[in-house]
This record gives sequence, structure tokens and C-alpha cells, in this order.
Amino acid sequence: MKNKQVEELVLQSLEHELGGVKVYETALQCAVQPGLKKEWKKYLDETHGHVAALETACSALGIDPKREIPPRAVVRVVGGALVEAMKLALSGGNPAAAELVACECVVLAETKDHLDWELIKKCGEHFEGKLGEALAAAADQIEDQEDEHLYHTKGWCRELWIQSLGMTAVLPPPEEVKKVKTAIGAARAEQAAEQAR
Ligand SMILES: [Fe+2]
Ligand SMILES: [Fe+2]
Repeated sequence: MKNKQVEELVLQSLEHELGGVKVYETALQCAVQPGLKKEWKKYLDETHGHVAALETACSALGIDPKREIPPRAVVRVVGGALVEAMKLALSGGNPAAAELVACECVVLAETKDHLDWELIKKCGEHFEGKLGEALAAAADQIEDQEDEHLYHTKGWCRELWIQSLGMTAVLPPPEEVKKVKTAIGAARAEQAAEQAR
């Protein structure tokens, strides 16, 4: 593997997806709203698929998927901190508060997940040969799923916070109803929620 920074991106992304499985397993313990629970169950399944896609990309590129590099430890610490934060919130005995914490933790985790896959997709388009092919194959479909994970959870997070403040919330959020998969779509969905209040 000649391109060290691409190798680092793949290994960071894999570590983040492994952490993502734990983030969703814990977030599901915090979820109260049945609609949110259903969404996160789907995202957990998809996250397992993302781990598998990156492991396949590693073997195609001759990267040891277990190779430790310093940025990987950083990603692991951040993911572990999100899990710890949710466990702490759960121990507080206020399910609605723990659900909000979980929403924020998932948004934080999905922000990097989204960036990782945007970059993997770009690498798939930019690099030729085996490298480009392996990354394009991994990014196929998954980048779309990451859009959904991030934008839909952001919508849930915003509306559940608004509900907790005693204002009119739009639930399920328009991001969910309109099946938003782009930043522009997410902005429109947020605007629609504002108009509905
Ligand atoms: Fe993912
Ligand atoms: Fe994701």
C-alpha cells in the first residue's frame, strides 16, 4: 500500500465503524421514542455492514485490518467517550434526558462517519486501478446510508430538544418523513419544521 494517508483513512474509518456499533448498541438502550428506536436498529445493522465493507477493502488493498496506528487509538478514545457519556446519562434515571444525550452522541459519531465515507467515495473517484476500485466498491450505497444516519438523527435531536423545552415539536422529524439524503434536503426539512410550529 503506497498511499499512507489513504491507508490511514481506511483504518480510521474501520475503527470508527467498530466504535459505531458500540455507540448504537448503547444509544438503543437510551432511545424512548419507538420511531427513533426503529431507525437506530436499522442504522446498527447498516453499521455492521460498513465494518464488513471496510474489511473487504482492506483485504483487496493488502492492508492488515488490525494494524494499529496512532490515529486509530484517538478514534477509539472518542468512540469510547461517547459510550461512557450515554452510560452516565442512563444511570441518572431520567429516560428523556438520556435519550437526548444519545441523540447528541449519535450526531457526533455520525459527523465523522459521514466525513469518512465522503472522503472514501472521493478517493474511489480519484484514484485509478485497484485502489480506486476497492474504495469505490466500498463506498457504493454506503455514502447514501451515512447521509441518512447523520441528517435524520440531527432532525430527531433538534425536535426532541424542542419538545423537552415545552415548544411544539414535529415528530417524526421532516428529515425522516421526507427521506432526506442531502444537506440541502436537510435544510429544507428544518425549514418545514419551523413553518409547522
Ligand atoms: Fe457507518
Ligand atoms: Fe453511520
